[in-house]
Amino acid sequence: MFGVGNPRAAIMFVGEAPGFYEDQQGEPFVGAAGKLLNDLLQSAGLSRSDIYIANVIKCRPPNNRDPEQDEVETCKPFLMQQIAAIGPQLVCSLGNWATQTLLERKVGITKVRGQIFPLHDFVLFPLLHPAAALHQGNLLQPLREDFKKLKAYLDQHASPRSSAGNTTAASPRPLQVDTSSQQTQMDLFAS
Ligand code: URA
Repeated sequence: MFGVGNPRAAIMFVGEAPGFYEDQQGEPFVGAAGKLLNDLLQSAGLSRSDIYIANVIKCRPPNNRDPEQDEVETCKPFLMQQIAAIGPQLVCSLGNWATQTLLERKVGITKVRGQIFPLHDFVLFPLLHPAAALHQGNLLQPLREDFKKLKAYLDQHASPRSSAGNTTAASPRPLQVDTSSQQTQMDLFAS
């Protein structure tokens, strides 16, 4: 399973691997975790049509087991090509696997969630994985807080109007996503 969404998205989400329903439908995040993700996106002023979603692992691991290192290594070049093709300014990694794969560091998601990591071609914003919050109810509130932080980041960096005067040389370039309107504008590549 490849990925789905807006091919001109300024924001891309990366999950772990397709589950049963994703595997059946050939689309990421269509099961219970996807429904929660839709709700969280809405809380951040985003919708599925604004973003692009892919997974690190392109096939469902048997019995939903954790991916193995060689599977990550095999699939990672496809993910990196997807990121290069979409060209998002912000990549939100969901959970440990996506975060560690993109940060190229073995670091726990609870240590890095909600923080900004300017990488070479994009800014990485790690978030807890929605499926983790479905399995462990006590993670739901922290996950909602992650998306509040994401909204705050988008509000600060989104529109050319709000970001023009307050960026510094070290700041990532402004995300041209206007989250102030009902329907988020993705004018990143508009001419
Ligand atoms: N979990 C993921 O990481 N990806 C999906 O597509 C669905 C559930």
